[in-house]
Amino acid sequence: MATESQAFYGRWARLYDLIARRTPGIARLRRRAAAACRLEPGDTVVEMGCGTGANLPYLRERVGPEGTVIGIDFTRPVLERARRATAEYDNVHVLQGDATQPPLGSDAPAAIDGEIDAVLATFVVGMLDDPAGAVDDWCDLVGPGGTVVLANAAPSQEWYAPPVNAVFRAIVVLSTPPTTRLRYETDPQRRLEEKIDAAHTRLRERAVAIADETHVFGVVRLTGGRLE
Ligand SMILES: C[S@@+](CC[C@H](N)C(=O)[O-])C[C@H]1O[C@@H](n2cnc3c(N)ncnc32)[C@H](O)[C@@H]1O
Repeated sequence: MATESQAFYGRWARLYDLIARRTPGIARLRRRAAAACRLEPGDTVVEMGCGTGANLPYLRERVGPEGTVIGIDFTRPVLERARRATAEYDNVHVLQGDATQPPLGSDAPAAIDGEIDAVLATFVVGMLDDPAGAVDDWCDLVGPGGTVVLANAAPSQEWYAPPVNAVFRAIVVLSTPPTTRLRYETDPQRRLEEKIDAAHTRLRERAVAIADETHVFGVVRLTGGRLE
């Protein structure tokens, strides 16, 4: 699964970047996801699976010049785009690594050798083998007082759902890897939703809710939790 995802995002980095930045309503969602991290100036925030870096400027806005933003992704071509997009900031670091085993231990660059105040993961958990386990690890990483925020796309439940869901399916097809595993499952859409549900449910179990919302015509679910 990891190699398939890397090959897909590596090949389609440019197209993905366009979708990630230009889909109607997406900029507002990214700003809201960054706000839900409840960051203070000077804080440190990690984005897991940061892709081409579309969230990083919003996170940088929140922590200010004295804070630290770290984006982690395992696909080099998307990271190169993220690096170029944030080159003007010396406190935004983009690292190649696995979001389920983030390179944040003693080997981490000196600039990020401190407490982590928040973890953000947008449109990522559906790609992980054990999304609830990853959420557990991210909750442990931030510890008490820290915040974890997830945003993921799933079919809309609103009354106007049918046309919205048709567009949603097209965007999912364009922006998620056609992995052999998903392709041969009887209902890949349902499998994706199960993973997303598992991740959001685990976050609600582990943390006190600070955000539980839908965005972009009901297609994006955003859950934020603060650890106690
Ligand atoms: C749909 S994109 C989302 C990118 C970004 N979060 C955004 O909102 O635009 C999914 C990203 O997750 C990355 N990814 C998937 N599984 C990962 C893992 N286990 N570790 C690191 N990155 C991962 C992919 O390389 C891809 O860039």
